[in-house]
Amino acid sequence: VRSVKRLTLLLSAVLLGGPPAAAQPLPPTSALAAEAARTLNDPIFPGLGQLGLDVRHYDVALTVAEPGTPGLSGSVTLTLTATRPLAEVRLDFFGPTVTAVRWNGQAVPFRVDGAAQKLIVMPPTPLLPGQEARLSAEYQGTPGVILDPDLDLPVPLGWQSVPGEGPRAGANFTLSEPNGTHTFLPSNDHPSDKATFTTRVTVPQGYAAAASGLEGPVVGGNGPQTFVFTQAQPIPTYALAVHVNRFERVTAPSVPVGVNGSPVVRRDYFPVGTPQGVRTVYARTDEMLRVLSEWFGPYPFGAYGVAVVTPRLPALETATLSTMPPTASERTAVHELAHQWFGNAVTPAGWADVWLSEGFATYAELLWTESQGGDGQAVAARWHDTLARGGTRPLVAVQAGQLFDRSAYQRGALALHALRAATGDVAFRAFLHAYTARFSGSTLTTADFLTFARARTGPAGEAALRPWAESPGLPPLPPSSSSR
Ligand code: ARG
Ligand code: ZN
Repeated sequence: VRSVKRLTLLLSAVLLGGPPAAAQPLPPTSALAAEAARTLNDPIFPGLGQLGLDVRHYDVALTVAEPGTPGLSGSVTLTLTATRPLAEVRLDFFGPTVTAVRWNGQAVPFRVDGAAQKLIVMPPTPLLPGQEARLSAEYQGTPGVILDPDLDLPVPLGWQSVPGEGPRAGANFTLSEPNGTHTFLPSNDHPSDKATFTTRVTVPQGYAAAASGLEGPVVGGNGPQTFVFTQAQPIPTYALAVHVNRFERVTAPSVPVGVNGSPVVRRDYFPVGTPQGVRTVYARTDEMLRVLSEWFGPYPFGAYGVAVVTPRLPALETATLSTMPPTASERTAVHELAHQWFGNAVTPAGWADVWLSEGFATYAELLWTESQGGDGQAVAARWHDTLARGGTRPLVAVQAGQLFDRSAYQRGALALHALRAATGDVAFRAFLHAYTARFSGSTLTTADFLTFARARTGPAGEAALRPWAESPGLPPLPPSSSSR
């Protein structure tokens, strides 16, 4: 979603009495086809996305007939616009077999390019800037396997299947960062194209589904039931949560830390039989929401909670509903909560800028430690030691193996510690509030971040950040900030 552009197009459409692009001559068809093949050219994942495509909304319907097995059937409708004429729509997809595609309700030709991981759809006429179309796809079968580029994670990304074992029921869920969403959903699978979602998940009786957003009424009685969720604020595709399990849904009083003090709905999902020790990690989520919203500004979504999974995977900040392994600590809980602001609401424009998510989420761990009476400077010193011993790099990543490394996390966090030391706590807090207010719902690059920091905190703030962003070596540990 690129709302400013959309507004401009809308205004000009109203003022000129028609879509603005209709007045412009179209390039010849062959040129249009070549144009349509252009991806977003992400330096880390050059194949992802389509240049000029803007997905505004995904209406996703998934049916999981046998939880714990990989099989899936899907029926999705994407609301599309374009920022340049598109003769073909090329969605990222490496999923089950596609059985039908419709364009504004009408069957249209399509093909699947397995090597490129694309579902290619031919609309009756090119999609022009200022126009909106609905693309529907139906599919059924087994999701593709995309291996994590970070080889530390020995699991495929995207749609997960956890077979039942003993008393434990079979389960399915998404774990998609960075590029796994297109294993189960045809999508413009790149963080620069955020969108809203409606997610409907149909599961057998006795199971429950959970997904990003606010839950609506459950549909169906005896037999399969459909759980419906509305994610009304745009999020990056990798942040979409879908969970199927035998769940206990545990609610807690809402917390008034949303925009203008609005209530944030609280609910957690624990697989039946989750031990008390695992649940305890989430006992203070409301306090975490209060502490972090004081630093970061209003919580950006309508709900927050976790869905616990049984495999020992890394946690993931899926929107409004973080996905947590049974081994997660309170510190991880704070980290994933912080990602709701940094990652899900304020989103890096490309994968090279992922430290804008990880550095902030890591810094939240220090802020939480301090709020509990702990020594934040000692946390920073440990990060600095780790980097000094293990090596480090400038913040912008240049290869997939760096996306979730120490530098993205700890060096990114120390950059913020340096900004805080240079400005003092009062100005640092004001900066964070202004930053989330400015970029929530949108995306930015590292360069945008430095420009914004300079505008808000002056040359001293920018000068504190620069060496962390750019120096090949390790800048000195920033001093503890006094509460100025
Ligand atoms: N964003 C996640 C977190 O820090 C980490 C995701 C790791 N993903 C991966 N593909 N290794 O909470
Ligand atoms: Zn993180």
